[in-house]
Amino acid sequence: MALDGVLKKIDETLPASVDRLMDLLRIPSISTDPAFKGDCDRAADWLVAELTALGFEAAKRPTPGHPMVVARKKGPGKHLLFYGHYDVQPVDPLSLWDRDPFDPELQDGPKGKLIRGRGAADDKGQLMTFIEACRAWKEVNGELPGNLTIFFEGEEESGSPSLIPFMKENAEELTADMALICDTGLFESKTPAIVTMLRGLLGEELTIRASNKDLHSGMYGGAAINPIRVLAKIIAGLHDETGRITVPGFYDGVPELPDEVRAQWQALAFDHAAFLGDVGLSVPAGEQDRTPLEMIWSRPTCEVNGIWGGYTGDGFKTVLPSEAHAKISFRLVGTQDPHKLRESFRAYVRSQLPADCEVEFHGHGASPAGQMAIDDPAFEKARKALGEEWGVPAAYVGCGGSIPIAGYFKTILGMDAMLIGFGKDNDQVHSPNEKYDLESYHKGIRSWARILAALD
Ligand code: BES
Ligand code: ZN
Repeated sequence: MALDGVLKKIDETLPASVDRLMDLLRIPSISTDPAFKGDCDRAADWLVAELTALGFEAAKRPTPGHPMVVARKKGPGKHLLFYGHYDVQPVDPLSLWDRDPFDPELQDGPKGKLIRGRGAADDKGQLMTFIEACRAWKEVNGELPGNLTIFFEGEEESGSPSLIPFMKENAEELTADMALICDTGLFESKTPAIVTMLRGLLGEELTIRASNKDLHSGMYGGAAINPIRVLAKIIAGLHDETGRITVPGFYDGVPELPDEVRAQWQALAFDHAAFLGDVGLSVPAGEQDRTPLEMIWSRPTCEVNGIWGGYTGDGFKTVLPSEAHAKISFRLVGTQDPHKLRESFRAYVRSQLPADCEVEFHGHGASPAGQMAIDDPAFEKARKALGEEWGVPAAYVGCGGSIPIAGYFKTILGMDAMLIGFGKDNDQVHSPNEKYDLESYHKGIRSWARILAALD
């Protein structure tokens, strides 16, 4: 095994690695929108073809939703399973994109080149870092590294509905010594990071109905109840004046941060002012007695993601609507139980409903928070390998986002997972003009080569 040779090969072949990523980015694999079902399938086929050409035994595996991709290369040493997702978020509002989201481009940015396009950072660029590391390894050493399984999902951005049954049905095939997940970022865009805590997610959609039709607000206004006012009041009541969430039982299972983790996070010297300043804000809006880093990594939240009803088109209409809608999500920590919380939330809303109103709920994803055990020596080996690539030691960090599979690797397959990714805070994931820095891609590929060498 010649790590230096592999790193050199990665540097020399970077333009071809970028071209391959561009091919994958051209496939609009939006998992949540049924109109793109064929494209999700095509992205899975593209990956199977790439992995097969590289020498993996790879197959597209059907599910009731979008297919999974599973690839295997048997060999000596620790069996590692690499996970990424090939699906992407919807692109709207399209008008805010500077170019077609699925016509990716290598652009000059203020601090170097960047790859612009939907999925560049989340998660196609990241999953390709691993494939490209394997490719360079094979070109230099004549064979793929070690003992690998690759597992790509196509429904991560839409709540992973097929994941649990698929993992249970294929448990033997998917159980390795350790999982590697590449779907997170660097710390503050410059320090390599291994995520040890991930928040869970619970999604709820609700409709409040009142009158049996929309009404003229002059004829009925004042006498008839307005469901938008009812909904707004219920939503406003979800937080108290200190920022705490009022749903009964909500804080059951929310732990205080252990002292050693608090000390680790303090040592990271997170720039709180820049964190909010970069997005045009200045005052933290969460629980009053918490720092912003705690708010995003270790505290639960309740956020309204969308609210609509009545007339929202151009001009004006004096309507008293018969319905009001909202989409609300909760980020969960510790051992908060998403299913129990769904019930407490629904009970809370019902308890606030005035006469003549009824509510209908539609549940979305429900995944618990994940806590990674870092006792396995592989963590320290990976940390060292990352430090060698990036020139600064890797940090153990939390992550405010959710990656449902991270917890399932432990609960369903009994495996620890190591979450390492190279995204930057300004990648605009889920937003218009998503990008992945060429530096993230290049050093990400090099990082995996180093980690594979260290874990071999
Ligand atoms: N890659 C993200 C998770 C993430 C977000 C990591 C921010 C690092 C920083 C992942 O693809 C994602 O967006 N997950 C969704 C989960 C969902 C739709 C079930 C999320 O967190 O909203
Ligand atoms: Zn992702």
